[in-house]
Amino acid sequence: MRIQDEYTDLGDSKVAALLFEYMPKIAAEHRTDSLLVLMADLGRQIVQADRCSLWLIDEERNELWTKVAHGVDELRIPLSAGFVGYSLKTGEPLLIDDAYRDSRFDRRSDLKNHYHTTSVMTMPLESDGRVMGVFQAINKVGENVFFSKKDLERLKLISVYSAKTIESALRAETLERYARELEHKAEELKSAHMELIRILGEVSEFRSQEVGDHIHRVAEISLKLARYFGLSEEQQELIYYASLLHDLGKVGISDMVLKKAGRLTPEEFSQMKCHSAIGRTLLRDSKTDLLCMAADIAGAHHERWDGTGYPDGVKGEQIPRAARICSVADVLDALSSPRCYKPAWSEERVKEEMLRSRGTYFQPELIDILMDHWDEFYSCYKPDGEFVKKGLLPPVKA
Ligand SMILES: [Fe+2]
Ligand SMILES: [Fe+2]
Repeated sequence: MRIQDEYTDLGDSKVAALLFEYMPKIAAEHRTDSLLVLMADLGRQIVQADRCSLWLIDEERNELWTKVAHGVDELRIPLSAGFVGYSLKTGEPLLIDDAYRDSRFDRRSDLKNHYHTTSVMTMPLESDGRVMGVFQAINKVGENVFFSKKDLERLKLISVYSAKTIESALRAETLERYARELEHKAEELKSAHMELIRILGEVSEFRSQEVGDHIHRVAEISLKLARYFGLSEEQQELIYYASLLHDLGKVGISDMVLKKAGRLTPEEFSQMKCHSAIGRTLLRDSKTDLLCMAADIAGAHHERWDGTGYPDGVKGEQIPRAARICSVADVLDALSSPRCYKPAWSEERVKEEMLRSRGTYFQPELIDILMDHWDEFYSCYKPDGEFVKKGLLPPVKA
């Protein structure tokens, strides 16, 4: 029997006190590297070692790594290095009195750190029957020279506790990383989705011979109306993108009608009116909030507040709110911009027309908003006013 085995360096009550002191700190800490430092501190005090460290396997790099202090870079060693490597490979603990008399000792660490190792204990960290690392204590301090079997038992106790705690921290970190990756993927998907919507909108604009950023101005004005109307930021964003598709149905209208210079005959106008229903049909089976709103807008942006619009002749709040908003923006832009069949109307005439249509064509509250903030809404049509696509995504590059 080693003389040392008769001693219990630290009384059991002191060990219990240390455990109670550290438990709340450990429970509150979720980062693995901080846990390694805390656990090592606890181990060092309980077994009265000069140094203690928890080595964990890094499967990707085939190494063991540890963190010995806050703010200090992590340390790394090969999986098979020294006593730690031995315990990892065999799953057995070690109790060594003189490291230099043991062939398994790897002296490189001492040389590098100008340190002299004598006594060593290692204990495999096991969780669910799997060795995930090794707890190592180096150089007994105090009156004794060697670690005792009692120390080894205590190191085992701390190792069991550490393995469970670190395992759950690692699992939480992995889950967090997956959650962040998923969030990133969702953002990427959303961007791609929005980009497609804008491209589709621009295709419909190109096809319908609209010129000069009509759909972008309609989207921007719709977003502003939605904001002053008190809709949430999420709804404002949906309206912005859904408005880009308001005339998507024009892809189903013949070139003869779409490209006709001058006024349409009644038959041609009937054909043109079909673009609302076509747009709604194209979009209505969508599952996303954005495309559902786009279907509402495409299908009802020519409905009128008083029920005299098309295609269904619905009125008032039966018209989807987003379509009521987009129709104000669409008409404001159509009147204020030049078209192949008419020049741009003067500001006064546009303002008068919009006001005259309050309660007939348009929801009164939306016209009130437009009038209250007229200069802001109309600024993009001023001769010196420059329309900047302030959309939520940068313009598509040619
Ligand atoms: Fe339209
Ligand atoms: Fe339009």
